[in-house]
Amino acid sequence: MAIQWFPGHMHSTRKAIAERLPEIDVVIELLDARLPGSSANPLLAELTAGKPALKVLNKQDLADPAITALWLAHHQARPGTNALGLDASEAAPAQRLIAACRALAPGRGGMVKPVRVMICGIPNVGKSTLINSLLGQRSAKTGDEPGITKVEQRILLASDFVLFDTPGMLWPRQLVPEGGYHLAASGGIGRNAYDDADVAMALLERVRPRYADRLAARYKIADTAGASDDDLLSAIGRQRGGLLSGGRVNMQKAAEMAIHDFRSGAWGRITLETPDEFAQWLAAGQAADARRQAEQAQKLRARRGKPPQRQADGGASGGGSDPDSGAG
Ligand code: G4P
Repeated sequence: MAIQWFPGHMHSTRKAIAERLPEIDVVIELLDARLPGSSANPLLAELTAGKPALKVLNKQDLADPAITALWLAHHQARPGTNALGLDASEAAPAQRLIAACRALAPGRGGMVKPVRVMICGIPNVGKSTLINSLLGQRSAKTGDEPGITKVEQRILLASDFVLFDTPGMLWPRQLVPEGGYHLAASGGIGRNAYDDADVAMALLERVRPRYADRLAARYKIADTAGASDDDLLSAIGRQRGGLLSGGRVNMQKAAEMAIHDFRSGAWGRITLETPDEFAQWLAAGQAADARRQAEQAQKLRARRGKPPQRQADGGASGGGSDPDSGAG
């Protein structure tokens, strides 16, 4: 079952972003480099359409470098968009961030026309860590913006470069089921929104084809290809001491351990999705959503005593299979 989660306070974040946007020159979206498609916020894409964008693939130390390169190229090929990889080990990230933003807003700069940048990202993507690292350098925090919103922070990164920080924001409807699982596996959505066993199984299903050797080595599994996801999870439980009395595997513990090991990088540098894979899931999610909406519309017509409408050919309603065209 697809995971859905949109706490109420996300509405105020969305509103705050929309209010600030007119005066913003560049929008930085912090993405999780292990799930660059699933961690991209379609609501933000909708709100910021047409604005110069810098996609920062954060936590690149945990991601597969070859797939990070694919995602960077994917974003860099888009008009008005640049992309860079980053992680917390970079001691002074401000220089690279500032240079990339300045290149995206060539008409801005100097005291009269400072570059105004907004930084956004889903919860847990590493935004506070990055901001703290930026604040540890030459920057100065200028405090909350009264009147606009209490949830925004303004940071002066250079005399003519202002960064507006926003709280982590998710989106109301998850069209891509794989995306929900990947967000849960990465810690992007709250624990009460998902079942550990479901997420661990989805994670193993994704990781196994590309990184079977890592799982085999870590959990001393002889035949990862022949094992089911259930067998794999049991092996993880046994190997990591997740046993009940009588030697039965505690599957809940095993699932928690699998998720923990993925998050901590114990499986090595892993990425859950390529641009092509995400585009396919998105197209399928959009098609399924279009079918659902059509069915609902037919039911509504039937309830009102109207004859059913002829279905249009094709199924999916626009959007195509562009990974950035909006998964929500
Ligand atoms: P947020 O503000 O976007 O919600 O995220 P935050 O900075 O709090 O980071 C979430 C978690 O991700 C933290 O770990 C943080 O240390 C870790 N993190 C941030 N950037 C990177 C990175 O580039 N690479 C890696 N590997 N991890 C990163 P935590 O376990 O939740 O907290 P802590 O134990 O580190 O304090």
